[in-house]
Formats: sequence, C-alpha cells, structure tokens
Amino acid sequence: MAVPTVAAMFAHPITEETTGPEAAELRPLEPWQAAEFQEHVRRAVGHFEPWLPWAAPVAADLAEAEAFLRKYATGQAEDIRRIYGIWLGGRLAGGLLFRRFEVAAGVCEIGVWLEPEAGGRGLVTKAARVLIDWALRVRGLSRVEWQTVPGNVASQAVAKRLGMTLDGTLRSAFPYRGTRHDVQVWSLLRDEFPEQGL
Ligand SMILES: CC(C)(COP(=O)(O)OP(=O)(O)OC[C@H]1O[C@@H](n2cnc3c(N)ncnc32)[C@H](O)[C@@H]1OP(=O)(O)O)[C@@H](O)C(=O)NCCC(=O)NCCS
Repeated sequence: MAVPTVAAMFAHPITEETTGPEAAELRPLEPWQAAEFQEHVRRAVGHFEPWLPWAAPVAADLAEAEAFLRKYATGQAEDIRRIYGIWLGGRLAGGLLFRRFEVAAGVCEIGVWLEPEAGGRGLVTKAARVLIDWALRVRGLSRVEWQTVPGNVASQAVAKRLGMTLDGTLRSAFPYRGTRHDVQVWSLLRDEFPEQGL
C-alpha cells in the first residue's frame, strides 16, 4: 500500500490555495525544528531585530534557537505560553506566539513576525484570527492583548485590522538597545468578538 507523503501532521490552512507557492499554513513550531527556525530568522534578522529582542540571539546561535522553542514547548505543557509557525509554499516564513497565556486571569498576549517577502498577503492577520478565536471561544479567555512600540506602524496596522482598541501607552516601559521605549497596549475583549469570528 502506498504511504502518502505527509508534510505536517497538524496544519491549519490560512489561504484558499492548499498547494503551491501561495499556500500558507499555520503549524506548531517545536524544538526539533530549531535549525529551520534559525535559518528563517537569519533570512530576515534585520527586519525583526529592531522590534523583537529574541531575533538577534536566535539568528546568531542554534542553541539559542532551540532554547527559545523549548521555553515555549514547556510553556505549552504548563498552559502559559504557545508558539506557532507560518509556512508559505512549504517554507517557514513567520510565526505567532502567545507570549503570555493566563487562564486564571482570562488574559493572553499575542506577538507576531513575518519575513518581508511573505508580507502584504494578510497572512499574519489571518493567522492571528485563528489564535484569537481559539483563545476567546475555545479556551474562554476574556481579553487578548497586543503590545508594540509607537514606532512600529506595521504592527499597529495588524492590531487595527484585528479590531483591537488602543487601551493606552506605558511610558518608558521597555529598555532595549540602550534606549527606553514607550509601549502601546492594544486589546480585544470577548464581547467585541463577533459570533462568526473576526
Ligand atoms: C508586523 C508584521 C508581522 C506585519 O506584517 P504584514 O505583512 O504587514 O501583516 P499581514 O500579514 O497582516 O499583511 C497585511 C498586509 O497584507 C494586505 N492584505 C492582503 N490581503 C489581506 C487580507 N485578506 N487580510 C488582511 N490584509 C491583507 C494588507 O492590506 C496589508 O498590506 P499593506 O502593508 O500594503 O497595507 C511585519 O511587519 C513584521 O514582521 N515586522 C517585524 C516584526 C514585528 O515588528 N513584530 C511585531 C512586534 S510588536
């Protein structure tokens, strides 16, 4: 009996195309994929590094890449963190994470990244909707947060597309690369989440 080729055991399509270079899937991203993750971050480290503190260490060191994914794997087991990749045309092109997943408080925070070549297709927005739907509807959380620095207009555009509201700005809350940055906090509440999804 012929055994079908399985590209991924668990994959959630986020485009209408399911094969070919424009087919995109959301999949778990696990420690065994550290080398693929590192290669992906390396390809776009200049794009990620201004906004994501983990990007440069991951790009520089495979052990950092594996440690980062392992932190999320143990976090998933503890139900406090999760990470997913976006594969476009079979290549890891971006990802999303629940940086915090606080079941008792009913609050989670989503973070995102995408190689520039995969941009402009709405992949992050579509994938974030899958995470939000799961957090609010399946897990019953009440609030999804999105944090960004005021200079990151691409990130703010995603938050707006997701229907989030800017709650406010934490002044001088984020020390990074020798400068203290303000942090915008955006959120979406369960009551604001339509029955049919976003
Ligand atoms: C933030 C980041 C992920 C946004 O990427 P992005 O490609 O702009 O986001 P999306 O995948 O949602 O795509 C949106 C674009 O696709 C377009 N688009 C096409 N079809 C779409 C659809 N069906 N739905 C939504 N947008 C769609 C939008 O118009 C938008 O294009 P524009 O930028 O020309 O206005 C990316 O800029 C990035 O990786 N930045 C570096 C890391 C970072 O800052 N992460 C966030 C830290 S807080």
